[in-house]
Order: sequence, then structure tokens, then C-alpha cells
Amino acid sequence: MAAVCTVANVDNEGKVQIRTLVLRNVDDDLAIFINATSPKWTALQNTFSVQTYWPSVSLQYRLQVSSVQIEKELVHDSWQMRPDVPKRMDWLYQQHRGQSSTVDSRQALLDLLDEVSLPEPLSAPEHASGLRLLPHEIERLDLSQDNGVHDRRRYRLIQDQWTVTTLVP
Ligand SMILES: Cc1cc2nc3c(=O)[nH]c(=O)nc-3n(C[C@H](O)[C@H](O)[C@H](O)COP(=O)(O)O)c2cc1C
Repeated sequence: MAAVCTVANVDNEGKVQIRTLVLRNVDDDLAIFINATSPKWTALQNTFSVQTYWPSVSLQYRLQVSSVQIEKELVHDSWQMRPDVPKRMDWLYQQHRGQSSTVDSRQALLDLLDEVSLPEPLSAPEHASGLRLLPHEIERLDLSQDNGVHDRRRYRLIQDQWTVTTLVP
């Protein structure tokens, strides 16, 4: 479960949007890799929420984060390690339909995928993107207490200093 996280934001119609994403490590930062053709790209330039639950150690983390875009060179190097179909999908987003847009049918999507023309040598499309996650608030809930009372703490970054507060679990 450490490989994934849940990312939530409020869209411009006021609806909560929530999805699973791979949670990565870039240098010393947490990071996500997403496609800039998706509506979430614009939404995640602001503050948003990230949640993880690690069942093997009974820990939940909830983070309030802002983000900064990952340097294109780093994204593009990492893109080369993607499997073939996700690479082709990234080019489909670029050449035919943005991520999360509609398509007539699954067959129409597969036909579009066949039409994708890949560059030689193979390189990442412009919209392949990533965000470093910069937490300013972290809430940690530890369920594994001998007395059964969960340990819940909130860490807040105030003027470059983390402060910790105990919360009622
Ligand atoms: C285990 C898992 C990992 C995923 N990882 C990613 C990811 O790293 N990046 C991504 O854009 N979508 C990922 N997805 C797909 C997203 O959950 C989501 O369906 C997609 O990004 C479209 O979301 P949107 O409509 O909010 O843009 C993953 C889904 C699952 C189930």
C-alpha cells in the first residue's frame, strides 16, 4: 500500500474529486506522475489532500500539500521506464483525446490507440508531467497501541518549523 495514495481535490463545480495514484519518491520529496491533459492537472496546482493507509503497520497519514512541477527532464527520463501500453496511452492523450475525455466506445478507444504514431527515437510527450508534494500539514493516526487507544497527532509547518498537536482519535 505504500506504493499508492489517494489524492482529493474540490473541482471548480464544488464537487470532491478523488482517485488512487502511484506515490513516488523524487529526491527527498513525495511525488505523483500525471498527465497534463487531465482536468486534475490544473486543479492540483493548488493546495489539495493526500491520504495513505499502510495496513501492515496500522498507520494512516493524511496530508495537506501544495505542489511544484517536477523538472521535465526528470519526468521524461522516468517516462522511459513505463510499460509499452501506458507509453502509447500518453501519446494518445497528446494526439487524439485528453485523459478523462469521452470516447464513443472501448472499441473506438482501441482503434485510436492503433492510430497513435510514436516518435523515433521514442520519447515522452509534452504532457507527461509530475508534481512534487510539499506537505504543510500531516496528520498521523497510529492504530497499533497496546492499550487500544489510537495515537493521533497533527504536524503543522509554521514558518519553517514543524509543530505537533495531539488530537482526540
Ligand atoms: C493502483 C492505481 C494506481 C494509479 N496510478 C496512477 C498514476 O500514477 N497516475 C495517474 O494519472 N493515474 C493513476 N491511476 C488512475 C487514476 O486513479 C485515475 O483513474 C486517472 O488518473 C483519471 O483520473 P481523473 O479523471 O481524476 O484525472 C491509478 C489507478 C490505480 C487503481
